[in-house]
Amino acid sequence: MEKTVSMYNDIEKILVTRREIDVAVKKLGDMITEQYEGKELVMVCILKGAALFFSDLIREVSLPMVIDFMSASSYGSGTESKGEVRIKKDLDRPIAGKHVILVEDIVDTGNTIYFLQNYLKDRGAASVRVATLLDKPARRKVPLKADYYCFTIPDAFVVGYGLDYDEKYRNLPDIGILSPGVYGAEG
Ligand code: PRP
Repeated sequence: MEKTVSMYNDIEKILVTRREIDVAVKKLGDMITEQYEGKELVMVCILKGAALFFSDLIREVSLPMVIDFMSASSYGSGTESKGEVRIKKDLDRPIAGKHVILVEDIVDTGNTIYFLQNYLKDRGAASVRVATLLDKPARRKVPLKADYYCFTIPDAFVVGYGLDYDEKYRNLPDIGILSPGVYGAEG
């Protein structure tokens, strides 16, 4: 209890509540269930940020599927994207002919997911769509439009429900704007 309270002290404003996340995730799960019936579906979690969203979302999809995990670097430990993408963990299984949904916590510049989408298309996936919890279109640097998104958010630094600042706050149940003083933007 004490720890959760102290994490919330670093939050300027709650942007999306856990309850709102639950509703949106269920809705998205139903949509995927409808659209992927009869297809060989592979849902891919982009570590680490998407881990919480992914584990909730896949349980709302009532279809047989394979799950897999990828990890790619983009942000480093600061708040700005470096613009270059490196794969740190690749898929465990061949992807050719499969219908893939890449699951992200946030699409910011779009660099990470744009790169991964093209990478899997090049490896022969039948289709590669992007499902993101948060979309921050104001920051986009590449022509990437998420196929599925739960919330569009303003250009603020957000943490919680998987999203971190310097690896912290991922376990915050809600999504909030981090106080600028925490990452040295003021004070
Ligand atoms: C974050 C996030 C996305 C990416 C979005 O990952 O999870 O993968 O950055 O930014 P972009 O659209 O500008 O590429 P990060 O590299 O911070 O790793 P993490 O998921 O382990 O926190």
